[in-house]
Amino acid sequence: MLKTIPVSDLEVGMYVDSIAEQNGNLKIKSRGRVTTNAAITAMKKQGIVSIVIDLSKQLIKEEEPSPEVEPPPEQDIPFVDEISKAAKLHEKGKVLQRRMLQAADKGLPIDIAIPKEFTSNLVSSIDRNPNALLCMTKIREKDSYLLEHSLNVAILLANFANYLEMPEDEVQELALSGFLHDIGKIKVPDEILHKPGRLTDQEMVIMRDHVYYGIRVLEDMGIPERMIETISQHHERLDGYGYPDGARGDEITKFGRMIAIVDTYDAITADRCYKAGMPSQKALKILHEETALKYDQHLVEQFIKCIGVYPVGSLVKLSSEKIAVVIKQNENNPLKPLVKVFYSVRSAHYLQPVEIDLLHSQYRVEKAVLASEFKLDFNRYFNESIAI
Ligand SMILES: [Fe+2]
Repeated sequence: MLKTIPVSDLEVGMYVDSIAEQNGNLKIKSRGRVTTNAAITAMKKQGIVSIVIDLSKQLIKEEEPSPEVEPPPEQDIPFVDEISKAAKLHEKGKVLQRRMLQAADKGLPIDIAIPKEFTSNLVSSIDRNPNALLCMTKIREKDSYLLEHSLNVAILLANFANYLEMPEDEVQELALSGFLHDIGKIKVPDEILHKPGRLTDQEMVIMRDHVYYGIRVLEDMGIPERMIETISQHHERLDGYGYPDGARGDEITKFGRMIAIVDTYDAITADRCYKAGMPSQKALKILHEETALKYDQHLVEQFIKCIGVYPVGSLVKLSSEKIAVVIKQNENNPLKPLVKVFYSVRSAHYLQPVEIDLLHSQYRVEKAVLASEFKLDFNRYFNESIAI
């Protein structure tokens, strides 16, 4: 007996007869029983909306071929297995970003295939275990803001798009848009780019031009029109007070709204040469309350859920008087993430890192903290003891 159901109702053990409706490219080559959750996730990512299932076959116990879905090659890899790959990828991203900025500065051509292949590798790492690269977004080096910011926006945007269950081609497109969005900043003088205080009107004019410079470079690279539009909108705001065009409301696309949220979040949580980054909770509050008219509030709410109360890579103080780094959200209880304990406040000593699932622990998070509050060189410790 055949029945059409939305893909969200599909379960392991059901027998897929055919696709009823889909937006993306057809990748199911044969009918069969669904044997893994990864196959269901892959169907959703490929834009399948509804499917026809055969109820008479879903309870058959003998082995039958699974639908030939092409799931991502690897998924749900443990954090510990992905983190060293993610650390190398993060480092490679900074090197590539520097080379692209230098090329843009000299007016040399940039082959789009190179950043595209890199961001495709980023998305693959996120598919294997998003927490590894998310953790890397919190490892900041002094004076590397320009390199790290675009890389982090790529990671956060791809992760956000995955959270919104956007199709694979859009996840890839947003990752590449994030990676390239600030390339025009190479034309802004350092004294304006890194000025601690408020920019003068004249300096602001120069700063705003980084969007136009960027677009010019991207057009020379042959970047698709929709990506140019997304990147050109990363400083536009819904109330019309953004730049460079003062676009407002519906003039700003969903991708433009997403990149604006992620760009702002990363910029205000980043450590800069002249100030420490703001805690994530404060940054999210600014996006949600203090500047609510500027950002798409529905998307901001989704982003807050995606990032979590205690974002991956952030530091927390536990009731055991120990400091830990968050390495995974707990979907059912955002207040009790999986953490790695690495420092004792009482004895002021680093500890051998130990993983604790706070859902099953007597200890709880007391508060989010910054490494600077405890004079911790967390970056060095992370590189030597966690991302080995
Ligand atoms: Fe920018």
